[in-house]
Amino acid sequence: MKRAIGLAAIAALTSSLALAETVAPTNVALVDGVVEVSLTGQLGDPVEGKSVFANRKQGNCLACHTNSDLLEEIFHGEVGPPMDGVADRWSEGELRAIVTNSKQVFEGTIMPAFYIESGYERPLEKFAGKSILSAQQVEDVVAYLMTLKEE
Ligand code: HEC
Repeated sequence: MKRAIGLAAIAALTSSLALAETVAPTNVALVDGVVEVSLTGQLGDPVEGKSVFANRKQGNCLACHTNSDLLEEIFHGEVGPPMDGVADRWSEGELRAIVTNSKQVFEGTIMPAFYIESGYERPLEKFAGKSILSAQQVEDVVAYLMTLKEE
C-alpha cells in the first residue's frame, strides 16, 4: 500500500515535469532554420505522427505532399515536394523548424506554420490563440518524418 502511494506520487511528479518542459509557441527557439530541442523535452511517437500527417483536421500534410508510405490514403496533393526520403535531405532540427514555422524557413511559402500563436492562420474563434498542432503532435510528426529515408 505504501509502495502504491509512492508510485502514484512519482507518476504525478513526472507528468508535471513533462508539462513544465513543453515549449510554448511564442518561446520556440528557431535559429538559422533549426529548432534543436524537442518542444516536449522528449522524442515523439512516429506511429502517432503518421496519423497526424494524414489526418485532414490536424496536419493535413497530404493535401500538399505526396508520400508513398501512405498509399492507402486516396488523395495526395502535389503543391509541396514529395515526402519520400525527406529525412535524407533534412536533419531532425531542420524538420522541427519546418513543421513549427515553415514561414521562417521558406520565405513566402503557402505551407501553414503549425506551431505559432495563430489567430490569423485559422481565423475561426475556436482556434484563436491556439496553434494548429500541439507540441506533442509536432514532435510526433517530426519523429515520423525521420523514418522517411531512402538512402
Ligand atoms: C498548403 C500546402 C502545404 C501543407 C498543408 C503542408 N505543406 Fe509542407 N510544404 C509546402 C510547400 C509548398 C513546400 C516547399 C517550400 C516552399 O514553399 O518553397 C513545403 C515543404 C515542406 C518540407 C520540406 C520538404 C523538402 O524536401 O524540401 C517539409 C519537411 C514539409 N513541407 C513538411 C510538411 C508537414 C509535415 C506538413 C503537415 C504537418 C506539411 N508540410 C503541410 C506546402 C504544404
